[in-house]
Parts: sequence; C-alpha cells; structure tokens
Amino acid sequence: MDVALRRMRPEDRKEVKEIEREAFAPLGVGTPFKREMNNRYAKYLVAYFPEPPEPPEPAAQPEPSIHEDSGRSADVPIWSRMLKSVQSLVKQDDRPSTEKESCIAGYLGVWFQGNEAHITEIAVREPLRGQGIGELLLIGSLRVALEYGSSVVTLEVRASNFVAHRLYEKYGFKPAGVRKGYYADNREDAVIMTTSPIHSDAYRELFRELQEKYPAHWREIRIEN
Ligand SMILES: CC(C)(COP(=O)(O)OP(=O)(O)OC[C@H]1O[C@@H](n2cnc3c(N)ncnc32)[C@H](O)[C@@H]1OP(=O)(O)O)[C@@H](O)C(=O)NCCC(=O)NCCS
Repeated sequence: MDVALRRMRPEDRKEVKEIEREAFAPLGVGTPFKREMNNRYAKYLVAYFPEPPEPPEPAAQPEPSIHEDSGRSADVPIWSRMLKSVQSLVKQDDRPSTEKESCIAGYLGVWFQGNEAHITEIAVREPLRGQGIGELLLIGSLRVALEYGSSVVTLEVRASNFVAHRLYEKYGFKPAGVRKGYYADNREDAVIMTTSPIHSDAYRELFRELQEKYPAHWREIRIEN
C-alpha cells in the first residue's frame, strides 16, 4: 500500500474531520483545522495515497458450485479491499470533483511550545490501522520537530491506550507524569510522555535505526510538500 506524508491542505479538511470523529468521538473534539493550518506554531501532516491503485481484476473463476461461498474473492489482496472501502467512504461526500482527488489515511498535529514539540492528535482510519501508517506519521512529526529545533517531543495519551503507548515507546517516549481525570468522557487519566532530547546522539541513533528499518517492513518513507 503506497502511502506518503505531506502538509495538510484546505481540501483535506473534510476527510481529516471524518478521521478525527471516528477516532475521538467520545471526546466530542472538533479541531478548528482551518484556523490551525494558519497557526505558525503548529504543523499538521496527513498520510495519503499518492496514486490510489486500481484494485486488480479478479482472475476468471470457474462457476461457483452451490456449495461454495460466492462472497469476496480470496485473490483480491486485503490492502485492496481496505482501500476500496475507504474510497467508497470518500465517494459518498458532496464536495466538488476537484476536491475529491486525495484520499487521506490518517493525520497528525503538532504544536511548537517553547522548546517542546507537542503532538496534539494522531489518528489513522480504523480499517487502515496496523499497516505502519501511524508510525509513518510519528516519523514525520519527529522530523518536523528536529527541523524546527525543538528539544523534546511530548504528548498526552489515555492510560488505557495500549496500542498508542506501544507506538510511542518504540520511538523512545517515556512516561513523565499523569494528568488525573484528564479525559472528559470517562475521567480517565492521561499519561504525559516525552522523548529524551531529540538532538542528542543517543536519540538520533535510535531514530536513524528505526527509520532504516521502516521501509523493509512497510514502504519507503515519502514526505512531500
Ligand atoms: C494509535 C494509532 C495512531 C496507531 O496507528 P497504526 O497505523 O495503527 O499503527 P502502526 O501500524 O503504524 O503501528 C506502529 C506501532 O504501534 C504499535 N501497535 C500498532 N498496532 C498495535 C496492536 N494492535 N497491538 C499492539 N501494538 C500495536 C506497535 O508498537 C507498532 O509497531 P510494530 O509494528 O513494530 O509492532 C491508531 O491505532 C489510531 O488511530 N488509534 C485511534 C486514535 C488514537 O488512539 N490516537 C492516539 C491518541 S494519543
């Protein structure tokens, strides 16, 4: 599955809002992306399909017998079925056709506060999770933070969000405190996580190794404007 990163554009907003709703519905968050995209102390990235591949034609099959399941073809790869379902979501909207070209898989927001880069939101469309897209977004945010000159990257994460904890731990984030009852929906605690100084030799080495491993596992890291 070919996925790349770029800065969020105005025409991405509708899809990004869908992803935000899907991921954070219980919190009722509604980030004002239009305003945020002009915030010079923030950066929003999207993971998108640069060229959505056409699903391959299924090979000619013999007529199914009445005993066979006539449902999905096992020859159509899983990524293709997931992409089709995401595209069908996108097709249901009523935007002008010029705005329908991109297909957004996930997004991430980062604010620059003093010497910290703070990840405010990261989410991947539900059917596309577990495909290295969240990791790609995190790599993008760390590169952005390095370029900006931030010293550390921080974030808050639900105490129970095991998947997100694993992702952040992989990239060297460590618990640095707790905000008691932080989440409005169930009063769950937020764990504050932070990296060690990202310009240190040790962190650069960790980040270099992880970026080197990523393409072998998933895809080339493509970051465009
Ligand atoms: C958290 C989230 C962004 C991760 O994105 P993703 O694309 O599913 O994650 P990836 O496929 O890139 O996985 C990267 C790492 O995350 C962890 N991870 C992902 N899925 C996991 C799972 N099912 N179980 C345990 N760890 C998992 C692993 O450390 C994985 O690295 P590995 O492949 O080397 O094991 C995604 O699950 C999501 O959108 N969740 C809903 C929104 C949310 O909770 N955001 C975080 C707010 S703080």
